[in-house]
This record gives sequence, C-alpha cells and structure tokens, in this order.
Amino acid sequence: METKLIQTTDPHDERLRGVGEILRRGGLAAIPTETVYGLAANAFDEAAVRGIYRAKGRPSDNPLIVHISAFEQWQALVTEVPDRAKKLASLFWPGPLTMILPKSERIGPVVSGGLSTVAVRLPSHPIARAVIDFAGVPLAAPSANTSGRPSPTRAADVLEDLGGKIDAIVDAGPCSVGVESTVLSLCGSVPRLLRPGGITPEMLRAALGELEIDPAVFEQLQSGEAPASPGMKYKHYAPRAEVVLLKGSFDAFRNYVLSHADEHTLALCFTEEAALLPVKTVTFGSEKDSLSQAQRIFEALREVDRCGANRVYARFPAMDGIGLAVFNRLVRAAAFRIIEL
Ligand code: TXA
Ligand code: MG
Repeated sequence: METKLIQTTDPHDERLRGVGEILRRGGLAAIPTETVYGLAANAFDEAAVRGIYRAKGRPSDNPLIVHISAFEQWQALVTEVPDRAKKLASLFWPGPLTMILPKSERIGPVVSGGLSTVAVRLPSHPIARAVIDFAGVPLAAPSANTSGRPSPTRAADVLEDLGGKIDAIVDAGPCSVGVESTVLSLCGSVPRLLRPGGITPEMLRAALGELEIDPAVFEQLQSGEAPASPGMKYKHYAPRAEVVLLKGSFDAFRNYVLSHADEHTLALCFTEEAALLPVKTVTFGSEKDSLSQAQRIFEALREVDRCGANRVYARFPAMDGIGLAVFNRLVRAAAFRIIEL
C-alpha cells in the first residue's frame, strides 16, 4: 500500500478533511499529538481497529486509548464521568492525561483489549483535534511505532516503522512533550498512576489530594503477576543494543565507562557531558531540564540503533516532575538493568 504523506501545521488545511474521511471509512492514519505520533482508526469500527494491531504487531490484549476532540464526547464512551474525573478534565484537558473508567457498550472488545474499562484522552495538538473533528468519530490511537520500538516523536520515525502499512501520515513536525501521556486509572477507590507522563504525580496529587503509583512504574513485574495496565508486561522502547543505567555522579559514570568501554560501546548522556567523554555519545537533553530529556529520549534511543553499538551505558535522570516519565521509559529500554556506582 502507498502511504500518503501530508505536511501541515494548519488545522484548517483541507487535506485533513481527506484524512478524516479515510479514518471514518475504516482506514489507518498516523497523526501528530503533543506527546508522540499516534496511529489512528475509527474507535467504533472493530475491523479498522484490528488493522492497528496488525500494522504495529501489537499483542491483542493490550488496549488502546480513545481520543476525543471535545469533553462532551466522553459521556458516550464510559458508564459515568465521576466528579474527580470532571475536575481533572477541567484542569488538564486538552493535554497529555489519559483517564481510565468503566466502558460503555459503544466500546468494543478489540479497543479495550477484552477489559471492562476504556482509556480516554483529549489531546491539545490542534492537528490531532482537527482530524478527530473531520473524522466525526472518536479515534483509537496507540503510539505509531512498531510494537516494542521507541515511540515516534517525528513523522520520519513513523515512516521508518509503518511506511507502506498504513494509508497516511500527517507530518506537523516534532512533538512538544516527547513522551506518551500520563495514564491514570479512576476505577478504584484511590486514583492510580499506571504510566507517568507530562501531567506529573505532583500535579495529580495537588488536584486529587490522594494518588497511588502503580509499582510497575518503577519495577519489573514478577512473572505471572497480572499488570494493572497490560502494556506494562511487554518489552518496550528497546534498542537492539544492551542498555545499562548507571546510577551515580558524572565522575563515577565517566570512570566506569572508561574502564568498561570497547569500540562498540556508547554513552547515552546529557548534552553538556558529551565533550567530556572519550567514547562515542548520544545525548538526551540537558541534566537540569527534564522536559528537554523527555523531548529527546525516544529519538536518542533510535539514534543508538543507527550507531550500531552493542552496549550502551546511560546516565540516570532526575525522577521528579516529568523526569519520572523519562526514568520509566529509560529503565524499560534497559530491561531494568541498573548498576549503582
Ligand atoms: O500519549 C499517548 O498516550 C499516545 C498518543 C498517541 O495519544 N498514545 C499511546 O498509546 O501511548 P499506547 O497504546 O502506546 O499506550 C497506551 C497504554 C498502554 O500501556 C496500555 O496498556 C494502556 O495505556 N491502557 C490502555 N487502555 C487501558 C485500560 N483500559 N486499562 C489499563 N491500561 C490501559
Ligand atoms: Mg506505545
């Protein structure tokens, strides 16, 4: 199949109407959001949604996020919108927050991965919202990468993974947040953070007064343990090289790398450190600026692959604010290998 490429930053671009049409009729299109690029299909068309799993090679029990363009569209997708969900929506929507609630009958088992709940998000990216409006239906959309690979923050990443497998890619330039949305379950008595993202635990706690963080955010699940979020049991974001996170000062990092490096070793470090390391480096943002790290982390993991390294030593990011999301993606890319220096 030929994948149509549409470059635009104008939400009124008439070609987006065509993308909406493709989606309404059961096609697949990759669209930009403020977090990462998403691979969209009509959430009410189970055959179209099956196409998403096929194109990505995604396990069928890993549910999808449903994207809406206006608050009112939420009601039809869930059994009820509780007060705390309304409060969070008024504070953080449109934006990088996904909320999980019991699903209505409008949501089929393919979208929900067989669960009784559904994840919903109202993105802030004007192109994403324009495409949802033109489609006239909510859009199911996971990140537009091949399953297991780093999420795409530029249209070129989507083309690399899914070119020839989907109908269209809308290119609006790089994503501003860089890591996927915060996923929050509102199904239990206490709100539970399942995946950290641009809306931070600090922000959620201030709004809700209480918040549990799922242990899978920090640690590997024991085999056989059922995850709160099915996505957490799969291998993620992993480059072909073996990644190891080194926890400690920059001096300790430098010494460790110096004594363990060979010609196939690469250091994944902060921008300001690259010139101070005598090995090949890929950088992921500035040490003091977690947002810059979020914006760079997936691109950096893709670059690691292009360099052909077989061992990567990575710096340990600060874990406050959006830094928790950076840590969460990096520790998964490292398959939870951490060395304390
Ligand atoms: O920022 C984002 O969220 C991007 C953009 C495109 O919106 N989308 C995205 O989707 O990251 P995906 O499919 O790559 O990640 C969705 C995560 C998965 O870990 C999935 O298991 C979890 O959310 N999830 C979805 N529905 C769920 C549900 N009903 N219960 C628990 N976890 C759910
Ligand atoms: Mg994903």
